[in-house]
Amino acid sequence: MILGLKDRDDAGVYKLRDDLAVVEHLDFFTPIVDDPYDFGQVAAANALSDIYAKGGRPITAMNIVCFSGEKMDIWVLGEILRGGLNKLTEAGVALVGGHSVDDPEIKYGLAVTGLIHPKKIIKKKGAKAGDALVLTKAIGTGVINTAMKAGVADKRTVAITTRQMKTLNRKASEIMLDFKVHAATDVTGFGLLGHAYGLIEDSSLGLVIDFSKIPLLPNVGKYVREGLVPGGTYRNRDFRLSSVETKLPEEAMLILFDPQTSGGLLIALSKRDAEKLVRRMREEGIKGAVIIGEVVREPKGKIRVI
Ligand code: CO
Repeated sequence: MILGLKDRDDAGVYKLRDDLAVVEHLDFFTPIVDDPYDFGQVAAANALSDIYAKGGRPITAMNIVCFSGEKMDIWVLGEILRGGLNKLTEAGVALVGGHSVDDPEIKYGLAVTGLIHPKKIIKKKGAKAGDALVLTKAIGTGVINTAMKAGVADKRTVAITTRQMKTLNRKASEIMLDFKVHAATDVTGFGLLGHAYGLIEDSSLGLVIDFSKIPLLPNVGKYVREGLVPGGTYRNRDFRLSSVETKLPEEAMLILFDPQTSGGLLIALSKRDAEKLVRRMREEGIKGAVIIGEVVREPKGKIRVI
């Protein structure tokens, strides 16, 4: 085993041969958008993301479904599964099976298996002082989802957010593999700062993150000021706040700890390479790619947000 539970990395990695390992990940959750077809696509993009974050190539997936045919029209389930399959097909991944449980609360996700070279795994730990941090998607899906549930999110915001969550991290991962990347992860439930901390955990390094550089989905600041903040945000913040130094207002912290669904990759690599990586990503359609900060020696074990 190369990466297991104790490593707390994004995915498990098991070596088969000197030149081949499998990389595995499982994720499922309750609907985060109204349209079941969109939800299926988002859930699949989200489940595949951790394989891409490690530099792996997903090959097979299995559905995990919680659904009650008594409580809900079976059409809804069909649409969810159709959405998931659509994303898998786009990713070149074969759906090989699945399992469903009768449950009045809908949940959907996938267990994904990929292939990776044991010496080419991009781990969460390995960032170096002086590295730049590149983020590939905008932040704020938790806030927008909360606004959506409250019925106050405007159509354009929902459309942009859904489109971003449906976007595979495949291309970002493939471009990343053309560079000498030191560490990478994907931004999901712990929020940007929670996952950024994962890059320096147990190391003698710190991070500086420039809030003004972070791309935000539309209306995120406005919705946060209106109190449309998911409960997970406060848990994320309270858990990690002692590792954050900042003079920014609470609102900024609530955005930076907002739990993300199918978020972007967060990549550490030398500054020179980071500039080239961002340029390449933008040329190839990953418009949100941007350098948001750097890896530093001081403050050790902390994230300074400026
Ligand atoms: Co992850």
